[in-house]
Amino acid sequence: MKLISANWKMNLTPSQSLAYLQKFLPLVEGIKDREILLCPPFTSLCVVKDALKGSSVKLGAQNCYYEAKGAYTGEVSLEMLKELEVSYVIVGHSERRWIFGESDELINKKVISCLKAGLRPVLCVGEKLEEREAGLTFKVVETQIRLALSGIEEYTDSLDIAYEPVWAIGTGTPATPEDAQLVHAFIKDLLNQINSKHQGKTRVLYGGSVNPKNAGEFMSMKDVDGLLVGGASLDPESFAQIVKSF
Ligand code: PGA
Repeated sequence: MKLISANWKMNLTPSQSLAYLQKFLPLVEGIKDREILLCPPFTSLCVVKDALKGSSVKLGAQNCYYEAKGAYTGEVSLEMLKELEVSYVIVGHSERRWIFGESDELINKKVISCLKAGLRPVLCVGEKLEEREAGLTFKVVETQIRLALSGIEEYTDSLDIAYEPVWAIGTGTPATPEDAQLVHAFIKDLLNQINSKHQGKTRVLYGGSVNPKNAGEFMSMKDVDGLLVGGASLDPESFAQIVKSF
């Protein structure tokens, strides 16, 4: 099933999140042929979980820590997330990589801990502008995926991957659907190489300046299995339009 996900980033307080859901849920009621995922900030997970009771909309977190518990001030464990009915975790978002300095090694540990806890990681990968201009897009994406899956190659079917070119995030300049398609097809080939028993359960999402106008075009590409939407997901009407865009 296609996966349309919202990454609210550091936006919406708990009361704003509730107000969002009051508008959003009626707009997507009855939609069963695609999976809808909301990734609010940690502070909103509890209210969003309660508001989603009885709905098929899924709950995701934007980050996690890989240790089970202990002296890790400011971090959030997978057990904590599970109790809030979180079923997906965004791992390795470019803002985590480039603002907070997350390494491929740390991202690998986070992916492993999500899998162990039974949560489905949405692993984000993507090249920076200078890397694209140097013709390194495929190399960068391959390296990020191989390192993130290092030691857990047999679990490729247990996660989803979001291709998010860094230069397209929050800039209003998305990749072209055709360029995204090339990278998505490359990622699927790569997964088959990494795990010869790969069953094709990994959805490859596109993210980066998706809006209600371009969402349908991305979704019409053969290997685009869903979307990860930042800015345009903050408005319930525009995110509902994106959900219904194909
Ligand atoms: P954007 O962000 O839709 O605002 O470009 C996407 C993302 O970072 O996941």
